[in-house]
Amino acid sequence: MDLQLKMIAFALLIFQVSSSARAQSGVFDISKYGGAPNGDITQPLTNAWKDACASTNPSKIVIPTGTYHLKQIELKGPCLAPIEVQVDGTIQAPEDPNQFDGEAQWIKFSYINSFTLSGGGTFDGQGAIAWDHNNCAETKICKKLSMNFGFGFLNNTIIRDITSKDSKNFHVNVLGCNNITFTNFKAIAPGDSPNTDGIHIGRSTGVYITDTNIATGDDCISLGDGSREVNVLNVKCGPGHGISVGSLGKYQEEEPVQGLSVKNCVLNNTDNGVRIKTWPDTPGTITVTDMHFEDIKMINVRNPIIIDQEYCPWNQCTKQNPSKIKISKVSFKNITGTSGTPEGAVLLCSSGVPCEDVTLADIDLKFNGTPASAKLSNVKPIIQGKSLLLNSTTTG
Ligand SMILES: *[C@@H]1O[C@H](CO)[C@@H](O)[C@H](O)[C@H]1NC(C)=O
Ligand SMILES: *[C@@H]1O[C@H](CO)[C@@H](O)[C@H](O)[C@H]1NC(C)=O
Ligand SMILES: *[C@@H]1O[C@H](CO)[C@@H](O)[C@H](O)[C@H]1NC(C)=O
Ligand SMILES: *[C@@H]1O[C@H](CO)[C@@H](O)[C@H](O)[C@H]1NC(C)=O
Ligand SMILES: *[C@@H]1O[C@H](CO)[C@@H](O)[C@H](O)[C@H]1NC(C)=O
Repeated sequence: MDLQLKMIAFALLIFQVSSSARAQSGVFDISKYGGAPNGDITQPLTNAWKDACASTNPSKIVIPTGTYHLKQIELKGPCLAPIEVQVDGTIQAPEDPNQFDGEAQWIKFSYINSFTLSGGGTFDGQGAIAWDHNNCAETKICKKLSMNFGFGFLNNTIIRDITSKDSKNFHVNVLGCNNITFTNFKAIAPGDSPNTDGIHIGRSTGVYITDTNIATGDDCISLGDGSREVNVLNVKCGPGHGISVGSLGKYQEEEPVQGLSVKNCVLNNTDNGVRIKTWPDTPGTITVTDMHFEDIKMINVRNPIIIDQEYCPWNQCTKQNPSKIKISKVSFKNITGTSGTPEGAVLLCSSGVPCEDVTLADIDLKFNGTPASAKLSNVKPIIQGKSLLLNSTTTG
C-alpha cells in the first residue's frame, strides 16, 4: 500500500472504531452535538435523535444539567431499538406564542415503540405572556396556544421524574398510545392560569399515572373519548379543576370510554373532585362504563363527586333533549374529607338514558362540619356503609 492508501485505511479504521464505540455505549450526549448551556439545542437534539433512532442497540440521549432553549420540535420514530431521552437540565420554550408555527405542541414524541423520557429535568413552557392572550374557553375564534408535550402513537412508554412547568396550554396530550406510564411526574402552573390541564388522554389504551403531583389552573387529569384502561394511583391534584371524564358527546365520531380506576388520591382545594360530564342535545351516542373512584381524600373541594349530563358551558348548546351518552358501572368508594358546598355529590344523569349500576359506598364528606348531601337525578345508586344525606329530585 502506498502512504495515501494507508492513511485512508487508517482513517476508515478509526472511524469504524469510534462509531461502533459510540453505538455500543449507546449514549448520545447533546454536548457532543454542539448543545451547550444557555444555547439553543433544537439542532443538536434533532441530530442526536437521528443517530440514536438509527442505532440498532438501545440508545440514550442525554441533556446534561444547565438551562437550554428549544424551539418547536417533533422527535419521530419508528426507531430501530428502544430509545431513552434523559433530561437533567431545564429546557425553556420560546415565550412568544407566535413562534410555534401553529403547532399544537411544543415537543412531540411520536410513532415510537419502547420510549423512555427520564431524568430530574424540567420542561418550562414559559406560558405567562401567552396566558394573557387566552380566551379560548369563551370564544371559538381564538388563537390556539401550544401545549408542552404531545405523546402521540407511542407503544410501551415511560415518562418518569420529569417536571412540566407553566405550559401555555395543556401540559400533556396523550393520543393514540398503548401502554404509557407517568411516574413521579409533576405538572405545575399557577392556579389562575387558563387551560393549563395536567394530563389529557384520548384514544389510548393502558395509561398508568402513579406517584404524580399536578397543580395547575385547569383539569388535573382528563379523559377524552377512546380512553381505555386508565389507572390513576397515588396522585395529588390541586389547585385546579380535578379529575374529569369528558366532556363527551359533542361529536358523532367519538369512541367509547371504558375502564378508569382512580385510587389513593388527594384532591386539595380543587373546583371539582371526580367528575363525569357529557353534553345534552348533541349527536354523540357512545357509552361510558367501568369508572371506579376509591380511597380518595377531598380537602375543601367545591364539588367533590359529580356526574353532569347537562354540561353546557357558556351556553354553547340547548338542553331541550337529554344527553344520549349511557353511563354505567360507576363506583365511588371510601371518599372522605371536606366539601366546599353543601352538596357532596351531584349525580345528574340523563333522562333519556339513566345511569345504571352506580354505587356510593363509605362516603364521609363534611361541609362546615356537618354531613354533606347528595342530589340525584335519573339514577338509583346502590348505597353501602356511611353515606351522604340523600336528596333525590327525580329518579329514573
Ligand atoms: C404500536 O402498536 C400498534 C398495535 O400493536 C401497531 O399497529 C403500531 O405499528 C405500533 N407502533 C410502533 C411505532 O411500533
Ligand atoms: C409496557 O411498557 C413497559 C415499558 O416499555 C414494559 O416494560 C412493559 O412490559 C409493557 N407492558 C406490556 C403489557 O406490554
Ligand atoms: C393543601 O394545599 C395547601 C395549599 O393550598 C397546603 O398548604 C397544604 O399542605 C395541602 N395539604 C395537603 C394534605 O397536601
Ligand atoms: C380510605 O381511604 C384512605 C385514603 O384516602 C385510606 O388511607 C384508608 O385506608 C381507606 N380505608 C379503607 C377502609 O380502605
Ligand atoms: C334537598 O333539596 C331541597 C330542594 O332543593 C332543599 O331545600 C333541601 O335543603 C335539601 N336537603 C338537603 C339535606 O340537602
